Amino acid sequence: MEYLPDSNVRYKDVDYWNERYRTEESFEWFGDFTKFDHLLRQHVGTEENILMLGCGNSALSYDMYRAGYTSITNVDYSNVCVESMAERHKDCAQLSWLCMDARRLAFPDGVFDVVLEKGTLDAMLVEERDPWKVSENTARLLHQVLLEVSRVLKPGGRFISVTFAQPHFRRGLYARAEYDWSIKHYHYGNSFHYFLYVLTKGEELSSEDAALERRLLEEAEAPPTNIRFQEADSEDFLNNIGL
Ligand SMILES: C[S@@+](CC[C@H](N)C(=O)[O-])C[C@H]1O[C@@H](n2cnc3c(N)ncnc32)[C@H](O)[C@@H]1O
Repeated sequence: MEYLPDSNVRYKDVDYWNERYRTEESFEWFGDFTKFDHLLRQHVGTEENILMLGCGNSALSYDMYRAGYTSITNVDYSNVCVESMAERHKDCAQLSWLCMDARRLAFPDGVFDVVLEKGTLDAMLVEERDPWKVSENTARLLHQVLLEVSRVLKPGGRFISVTFAQPHFRRGLYARAEYDWSIKHYHYGNSFHYFLYVLTKGEELSSEDAALERRLLEEAEAPPTNIRFQEADSEDFLNNIGL
């Protein structure tokens, strides 16, 4: 609770993360590696080139390294986080740490087999009031990030997204032909379920996800519905609904 911000909006602010990482040793969003290791093993090879997006001070990369994963590049836009994680893992050549914004990844196209994020996109969605409809600003931010993720993935590469967001809220953000990936999801956890999405580059969206994309694009283009409100007591609405 010590690091709880005064408002959720602060989760979108790099100053909040810098301040937090100055004193916080480690924090694990949505459970540690052991909770979803069985799913990762099905979708990520230990020899693959992995990008950890918004690594924070989580132990995930180190736990993966200890489980045999040999190449993990960690990025976060908090320089405080990256410096302390680099120092903590300086004896571990398989893990590298870079200060970088997920909206502008400084990597060439098609270099990673896997991009993995846990809670990073959720931190970008904190201001949203309606989980069914993401605001224009946040949609633009996520689109920038997802385009970058897709760009740095090799053909056949996978974007793995670990979140608390249920498929009916999250699939709509990922279902874009432009990202050139298919979408599958899994869940883990006992009483509370978390979700692990696997988006495979170069595979087509399912017909259901393609239809979802079409529907969302149509809705975004449609003019707002003109709702008429009762202006005065000219209509007896209680009678109309039979009370
Ligand atoms: C909720 S924390 C998750 C940390 C870690 N992945 C975990 O599982 O515990 C979100 C992280 O995303 C980072 N972040 C947020 N927006 C970012 C951006 N645009 N580029 C890079 N990192 C970002 C924050 O600094 C923070 O470390």
